[in-house]
Amino acid sequence: MKIGFIGSGSMARALAGKWQGKHDLLFSARDLGKAALVAADYGAQAGNARQAAEFGDVVVLATRWEDALDAVAQAGGDDVFAGKVVIDINNPVSTETFLTTREDGRSLTQALEAVLPGAEIGKAFNMAQAAVWANPEMTYDGRPMVTLFTAETERATETIADLIRDVGAEPLKLGGNAHAYQLEAAAAIVIKFLFAGRDPQTILNFIQPEVKPVR
Ligand SMILES: NC(=O)c1ccc[n+]([C@@H]2O[C@H](COP(=O)([O-])OP(=O)(O)OC[C@H]3O[C@@H](n4cnc5c(N)ncnc54)[C@H](OP(=O)(O)O)[C@@H]3O)[C@@H](O)[C@H]2O)c1
Repeated sequence: MKIGFIGSGSMARALAGKWQGKHDLLFSARDLGKAALVAADYGAQAGNARQAAEFGDVVVLATRWEDALDAVAQAGGDDVFAGKVVIDINNPVSTETFLTTREDGRSLTQALEAVLPGAEIGKAFNMAQAAVWANPEMTYDGRPMVTLFTAETERATETIADLIRDVGAEPLKLGGNAHAYQLEAAAAIVIKFLFAGRDPQTILNFIQPEVKPVR
């Protein structure tokens, strides 16, 4: 599969580390030099956002959440994204209040759907930190990490589930994109505890990072 990343930061790198060798990858950033440096690390191509969107059968939206809507517009909007599976990994969460920033009660995923009606959008990979996705071992106490996602169409559902398996996790569909808001709100919980210093592997799993003596 061809996967275009809009954004070449921590999350694009973490996911690419798992998809490298299985899929053809293209990284983009506003600074083309940075995208090229990242691409070189993963045997991938580099380009601008439009080239990433044109390249991918799947397009991963991996800018900061604040930039996601501008980035898809800069990449050419629905004319370019129509027919693509688009994965929204973004968490519109304030790191001051640890609440989602979507005061209208609709998710960023749905806001993206509104501007990209021809794309097949889903939300995935937002519930764990980049360091977790980069972890070569995705099983904990012998149990695979379960990854919630949302999607509307059968193609998006199957594609996203396959890409979750390709990172070593087990996909679990929460529902259509009406449920993406719940994933964003749940990520706000994760982010709150990350900022408080809790181990990123443990949040929501509530697995203790150290073995405690039995009393
Ligand atoms: N980091 C995590 O642990 C984590 C976990 C789960 C979900 N998320 C979500 O994932 C998203 C990405 O997070 P991140 O930590 O990977 O961000 P990041 O490291 O800050 O990377 C953002 C990337 O987006 C690029 N970019 C910005 N505007 C662009 C545009 N218009 N076209 C193309 N590229 C553009 C930036 O490069 P230039 O400045 O050169 O354009 C940069 O490479 C966020 O929305 C976040 O909520 C993050």
